[in-house]
Amino acid sequence: MSRANGRPAQSDALVLFGVTGDLAYKQIFPGLYAMVTRGVLTVPVIGVASTPMSLAALRKRVTQSVRHSGVTVDRRQLRLLLSLLQYVSGDYNDAETFQALKHALGTARRPAHYLAIPPALFETVIQGLGAVGLAKEARVIVEKPFGRDLESARELNAVARTVFPEDSIFRIDHYLGKEAIMNILYFRFANSFLEPIWNRNFVSSVQITLAEEFGVNGRGAFYESAGCLRDVVQNHLFQIVALLAMEPPAYRGYGAIHTEKAKVLQAMRPLTQRDLVRGQYAGYRSEPHVARNSDVETFCAARLHIDSWRWNGVPWFLRSGKCLPVTAAEVMVELKPPPARLFADSASPEGRANYFRFHLSPHAAVALAARVKRPGKEFVGEQEEMYMCEELLGAETPYERLLSDAMSGDGALFTREDAVEAAWIALEPVLRHHRKSIRYRRGTWGPKEADELLGGHGSWHNPTEAGTSG
Ligand code: BG6
Repeated sequence: MSRANGRPAQSDALVLFGVTGDLAYKQIFPGLYAMVTRGVLTVPVIGVASTPMSLAALRKRVTQSVRHSGVTVDRRQLRLLLSLLQYVSGDYNDAETFQALKHALGTARRPAHYLAIPPALFETVIQGLGAVGLAKEARVIVEKPFGRDLESARELNAVARTVFPEDSIFRIDHYLGKEAIMNILYFRFANSFLEPIWNRNFVSSVQITLAEEFGVNGRGAFYESAGCLRDVVQNHLFQIVALLAMEPPAYRGYGAIHTEKAKVLQAMRPLTQRDLVRGQYAGYRSEPHVARNSDVETFCAARLHIDSWRWNGVPWFLRSGKCLPVTAAEVMVELKPPPARLFADSASPEGRANYFRFHLSPHAAVALAARVKRPGKEFVGEQEEMYMCEELLGAETPYERLLSDAMSGDGALFTREDAVEAAWIALEPVLRHHRKSIRYRRGTWGPKEADELLGGHGSWHNPTEAGTSG
């Protein structure tokens, strides 16, 4: 990696492959606008795509995207962003495209190449960059899913490593750029009260739900090649598990965090068919670009075990799906009940034991539920939540944060090769062999078979959009 005064040097251009795509429109352009507004993006931004298009048309698209993103637009800042744009079109298999890019880069020597393109094209583009000398001193930013199984991830890592050193490869999982996710790491290790109970002796189970009210929203073609397991479980959900389950990092520095997270992923027991329920919402097969007999899952519920000293015997239940009743993501860490039931009401089996709840989206909140006595003669009470909510006003969006981190060479919030591969190893058996997906009605919590996964561990906790206990 190039360095200036001992620190990683700032990238001097941003190349955006896949500039005409959905991700660029929905997430990246608003992120770039925010970076310009904060003064952290001042270098040329070169869009690349196969569609022939004029620079004026690209500028129009960027303008629309920023306006649709819901921010109050400052016209001067928008003009500044538009003035940084250039456009190169061409086939990624054609060396000419990369020559044209080289020309457009002019005097820039340390570009950051962002691949917002289908994973099948990563290899072609990485090699194309290497062939014309555009990888030297450069960085590459790749979107998840990184590969589609262990073998392809290893292959991709190998290709990327022939052209870029590991510290110049930035694997994006945008969940890691979310404040609420960063808070899991902070909350766990900036407080001392959690550590004594954060293990198999006090935790009975952990549930993580990432629910979305909408369907595939025009991304049928992508979804057909990914499905819920590859789209969000292998990355977003496993990253959350890693942050919740990791050991304290041995030193201050992101290398130590990456190492501890990778260890959790390596300790995951590979899933078996019995650990997984796959579902598909009714009507998915009529979505554009979806096969009429598709078995691709739009929902999954999984039971996971982490075979480590800390977590031995604690089941982790993960669930995600499209067309569910709400859009919300939440973690529920359920604690064991007290060893003796001393009060009349604590003898009742109904209700949950004490728990920690991390509401991750759309808000950021942490809640601790504990029983308190109701006034009166009887020793009976209720479970009440202590609720800590952080307003996210003015917070950086994940793409804004991650792109500026990558351009300044800060790899803290990106995933490392060993972690990506370990995540695929845990999923490998169920990627190959799984039961058929079960149809569920839109607006429900998925197939009822998902309830059976929980065994003796109560019921699924359904998050609410408001982030309160529901
Ligand atoms: C993306 C998935 O990575 O994450 C989408 O491809 C999903 O299918 C999205 O909807 C969820 O992210 P967020 O930030 O909108 O909660």
